[in-house]
Amino acid sequence: MNTNQKALVKATVPVLKTNGTDLTKHFYTRMFTHNPELKNLFNMSHQASGKQQHALAGAVLAYAEHIENPQVLINVLQSIGNKHVSLNISPEQYDIVGFHLISSIKEVLGEAAHDELIEAWTQAYNELAQIMISIEHELYESALKKEGGWKGWRAFVIADIVEESDEIKSFYLKPRDHQLIADYLPGQYISIKTFIPELGHEQPRQYSLSSAFNPEYYRISVKREKNGQNLPDGIVSNQLHQKKTGDELWVSAPAGVFYAHPESENPLVLISGGIGATPLLSMLETRKNTLQNSTVVWLHSCRNEKVHAFKDHINHLNTDNQWLTTHIFYETVDNHSDPVKKGRINLQEIRDEILIDNAKYYICGPEAFIKAQYNSLLQLGIAKEDILYEEFGPQLLHLN
Ligand SMILES: Cc1cc2nc3c(=O)[nH]c(=O)nc-3n(C[C@H](O)[C@H](O)[C@H](O)COP(=O)(O)OP(=O)(O)OC[C@H]3O[C@@H](n4cnc5c(N)ncnc54)[C@H](O)[C@@H]3O)c2cc1C
Ligand code: HEM
Repeated sequence: MNTNQKALVKATVPVLKTNGTDLTKHFYTRMFTHNPELKNLFNMSHQASGKQQHALAGAVLAYAEHIENPQVLINVLQSIGNKHVSLNISPEQYDIVGFHLISSIKEVLGEAAHDELIEAWTQAYNELAQIMISIEHELYESALKKEGGWKGWRAFVIADIVEESDEIKSFYLKPRDHQLIADYLPGQYISIKTFIPELGHEQPRQYSLSSAFNPEYYRISVKREKNGQNLPDGIVSNQLHQKKTGDELWVSAPAGVFYAHPESENPLVLISGGIGATPLLSMLETRKNTLQNSTVVWLHSCRNEKVHAFKDHINHLNTDNQWLTTHIFYETVDNHSDPVKKGRINLQEIRDEILIDNAKYYICGPEAFIKAQYNSLLQLGIAKEDILYEEFGPQLLHLN
């Protein structure tokens, strides 16, 4: 891109700030009208709730703001690239997205979209697409090179189903081809894909691998999303909860940038709300298998005992291992013999136990939960770079 084109792209920042989501809404509607096959690939509930339009608008805005030096966005681009790879996005699809994005800019901006501006945005999109395609190429290559690795969708069979709480079930998945499966970093996720008869097409979803790596299977633990009020029940989680052993799912290779490296010796403070426990449980179990002397603090909050998944498992680990301490918080306490705290997690109250030299703090749970814990950690003096978090949906928080 030349200097003039960069200036033109930058000049659209105020418009993107106020109308970015209108643009991406228009873009997705346009794209799904002309390329309905892409509904198999996108999470259509994120479309309905507007979360994905918001995530894409945020990414386009950040790119326009950093058009002089997009490399500062590398961590964000890596995270998006991992999500794309987990959905088997291909370079050719960048042409489809680019065509609809540029057409949408023309249609939404109307007369303000003069030829020079459109040319500048076309260049900008193509450069970003090249960066993304090369990040994704490397991720595909390294997944393929791994023992047991693969690219795209591979058939897995549900080998076992375990009820972890009133609303969470674990699924043990084994490859239909009986060949090796790739290992993963604790905290990473897989995507699964399944046909949804009510929609008439497939839907993918991401699920964190909820145990330490075991060469026999991948384990995911899924919360059944029941909403009741004005919102529909979750499409895929409810279908999964109806599945039986022997049923098949399409699975993509492990991916994701939210992990605790098994070789890192930093103490871990793992803070989860509800189903957000899954990636952190994989970190905890991996720590047990590798570095037993390094401190781990497990903080978990949920509504009540009935929805408390992995309760006995964590209790056993806590009893058997000196290096682990746990604090459990229930919003409602029914059984007063349980060693739990009532209410929400209050980090200030247990500050002496979590202020540990060189510790890394991992947070996973609903958006409001992540924000609250993140801010509490900052107030306790923890540095931003020691706090890592993951949202179970489009990554909309940009706290770091
Ligand atoms: C990296 C990652 C890891 C994850 N790990 C796990 C995990 O370990 N375990 C787990 O259970 N989940 C996990 N998730 C979440 C999972 O991918 C699914 O999002 C979850 O199972 C819900 O999917 P669903 O199809 O059942 O619900 P969906 O149909 O996708 O619905 C999701 C929510 O959107 C709401 N919604 C639907 N339509 C609208 C609308 N029009 N307006 C507003 N809201 C609407 C629904 O009511 C529901 O509450 C993870 C997600 C990510 C990104
Ligand atoms: C430069 C171009 C692109 C940009 C800037 C972009 C940006 C994004 C962002 C920000 C997310 C959310 C990621 C997250 O929060 O984890 C995302 C997810 C996604 N992207 Fe892209 N993307 C691009 C190209 C593509 C292409 C070519 C496809 C293929 C058709 C694609 C398909 C998807 C899908 C299916 C998701 C997941 C959606 C969901 O879960 O709701 N993207 N992308």
